Amino acid sequence: GVSTLTLVTPAQLKHNNGRKDRPAWSVWQGKVYNITPYLPFHPGGKGELMRAAGKDGTRLFMDVHPWVNWDNMLSECVVGILVGESEGAR
Ligand code: HEM
Repeated sequence: GVSTLTLVTPAQLKHNNGRKDRPAWSVWQGKVYNITPYLPFHPGGKGELMRAAGKDGTRLFMDVHPWVNWDNMLSECVVGILVGESEGAR
């Protein structure tokens, strides 16, 4: 529910880029997703999907397949909401 949504700062997003055993997080329209579980299933391959890791993937995603419904497909993988650097929970 809304009351348990995690606030994710830009630094946390950048940190979770799928490297060094960290999860791969990406952003779609302001929402942060853990894309790690989907990597083996991505029809475009793991490498392509990893281009969006640790950053906002909205533009890359829209450039390739705007007809795909990210929100529906990864609804189980929502981490939280991307906020400003000073707005995160401590
Ligand atoms: C293909 C899902 C992110 C690159 C696909 C397809 C799906 C999908 C369902 C098949 C589409 C179709 O055939 O109509 C997703 C989801 C993403 C994501 C859920 C985010 C979580 C990305 C990103 C990139 C990318 C960030 C590139 C930077 C591609 C490419 C294909 C593809 C190149 C075409 C593969 C082919 O036809 O050989 N993706 N994608 N995807 N995706 Fe993604």
